[in-house]
Amino acid sequence: PRVVVLLSGSGTNLQALIDSAAKSELGAQLVGVISNRPAAFGLERAAKAGIATRLVDHTLFDSREAFDTALMAEIDLFKPDIVVLAGFMRILTPAFTEHYLGKMLNIHPSLLPKFQGLHTHQRAIDAGDNCHGVTVHFVTAELDGGPAAIQAIVPIEKQDDAASLAQRVQVQEHIIYPMAVNWLASGRLRYQAGKAWLDES
Ligand code: GRF
Repeated sequence: PRVVVLLSGSGTNLQALIDSAAKSELGAQLVGVISNRPAAFGLERAAKAGIATRLVDHTLFDSREAFDTALMAEIDLFKPDIVVLAGFMRILTPAFTEHYLGKMLNIHPSLLPKFQGLHTHQRAIDAGDNCHGVTVHFVTAELDGGPAAIQAIVPIEKQDDAASLAQRVQVQEHIIYPMAVNWLASGRLRYQAGKAWLDES
């Protein structure tokens, strides 16, 4: 299966996917990486791994719909089976999420449905929670609201600040995202009737 990754920043999750593919553990081919920001370091990681890169700069479009239409066109040129959001910091229109329904995953740094949106690590600390974590979920029209495929739990330590907690959450992100992509690529993970299904074995 062919995978296109969308990102906006550093791309450590992309790197985890690249490393997994290099070990023949991903069960899928990374065919393209698209950024909405020219300075995203993830573009350099992709280029270094020999993956085609594209830039679709959201600042050059005057509506969300126009940006999403252009982005869809770029993505579809790669003929992907799977679209992976890896730190892609744009809100997507329903037309976009509908187009890739069941084929598009996102990774969100919280134990969804807790802490949708931004600043999740600080919010988990401020809430006095003793556990935090990360969720890989199918993308639906509802922001950070699609059904979860896998979560990793990370304990919150007394001395944690947002940065130290984020660092330990990221270690887990880099483990569970390649797993989830592998499951979706193999057909073991499916989206059906609004839910995520994972076959046993
Ligand atoms: C990650 O923390 C991910 O959970 C969130 O955006 C961040 C992307 O990090 N959605 P990176 O660019 O993969 O390093």
